[in-house]
Amino acid sequence: MSFLQVTWTDPATGARGFLVIDRLVRGVSSGGLRMRAGCTLDEVRGLAEGMTAKEALNYDPEARYVPLGGAKGGIDFDPYDPRAKQVLTAYLYAMSPYVERFWTMGEDLGLRQSTIDEAIAEIGLQSSIQAVYPLLDDEEKARQRLADAFAVTVDGIGLDELVGGYGVAQAALAGIEHLGLHHPTAFVQGFGSMGGATARYLARAGVRVVGIADVHGVVANPAGLDVETLLLSRDAHGTIDRSKLRPEDEQRDRESWLDVEADVLVPAATSYAITADNAHRVKAKLVVEAANMPVTAEARLRALVVPDVVANSATNSWWWWTLFGDVEPTAESAFEKIATTMRRLVASIIDAESPRQAANQRAAAAIVEIDRRFRS
Ligand SMILES: NC(=O)c1ccc[n+]([C@@H]2O[C@H](COP(=O)([O-])OP(=O)(O)OC[C@H]3O[C@@H](n4cnc5c(N)ncnc54)[C@H](O)[C@@H]3O)[C@@H](O)[C@H]2O)c1
Repeated sequence: MSFLQVTWTDPATGARGFLVIDRLVRGVSSGGLRMRAGCTLDEVRGLAEGMTAKEALNYDPEARYVPLGGAKGGIDFDPYDPRAKQVLTAYLYAMSPYVERFWTMGEDLGLRQSTIDEAIAEIGLQSSIQAVYPLLDDEEKARQRLADAFAVTVDGIGLDELVGGYGVAQAALAGIEHLGLHHPTAFVQGFGSMGGATARYLARAGVRVVGIADVHGVVANPAGLDVETLLLSRDAHGTIDRSKLRPEDEQRDRESWLDVEADVLVPAATSYAITADNAHRVKAKLVVEAANMPVTAEARLRALVVPDVVANSATNSWWWWTLFGDVEPTAESAFEKIATTMRRLVASIIDAESPRQAANQRAAAAIVEIDRRFRS
């Protein structure tokens, strides 16, 4: 049972929006806000439950950051519609009591952090994570540390847009080593914050990225794509600039994404991308869930799956490690902490018959620990 579920309708456009707070820890929850046409309350509830697990999995009794509860927001509206910003602002205005008190959030599918920050300022709130401020020892220092971290760029991309995909790449590399894959190849579905950074750090680790999909279709090359050029020329929605493709790169339609042969498949776009209907087309030996809930419960895969609650948890943890002072506001400090934590997390579940179940069990055990520590 969730702590809170809110359904909202935008008076101007009729768009629907949802907020689910699955659980509070020390009175606060954490979870991003997504915008996509077709977003449902059920989807947001599932994502909020996932956030509770993601937070709990990163519990370290020695750390300054203590995991929060899980939450998620969703707006059923097309993020490419010119009215998207106005709908976002109206939604946040309606949700402002929760943002002030219970719900810390950041970008998710279809939304950029900078757009959320602009909307938050417009409605007169302090920040999208202000609900956590009362838990900080030195609020001013902590906020400065986070601001400093957000100002860091690595080879043309903001650190905040890299940490999540860096974590996914680490999870994938752990899986590749576990399976003993030599000269591995990868396909990444989605080329926004998560997919883009995942592709970059896989390529930098020597994994050949043979295909990428965005909302308009697939680009592929068995010899490997020029990831860095595509990355630095994509637009703010993660759309590939096809004029930057090389003559030997192929273009295919979007539905062919499961036909590109690759050892590693990284779904980094929408939820429910792999279902009972198309699971038989997945030939990869390793699936690393950068997206949230990309594989439905009914889909049967033969591949080793590193579940979303583990693989894509780094963005969320990085915000809190930075704010609470477990890492410095530098790329080196962030990447080192993410690599160590992700490798340890993956190692703890990868031998299980179901790594997803193992992750959920670990999360449940951590929640009991956290409750015990903060109940009194
Ligand atoms: N951004 C984060 O911090 C974060 C953290 C954890 C998990 N996630 C999850 O990762 C996923 C991607 O989020 P993001 O923030 O990178 O999104 P984004 O909006 O930055 O990028 C989405 C990408 O997916 C592509 N895409 C959309 N629909 C597609 C389709 N049907 N087929 C192929 N490509 C499609 C878009 O063209 C774009 O390249 C989501 O499931 C999100 O919940 C995001």
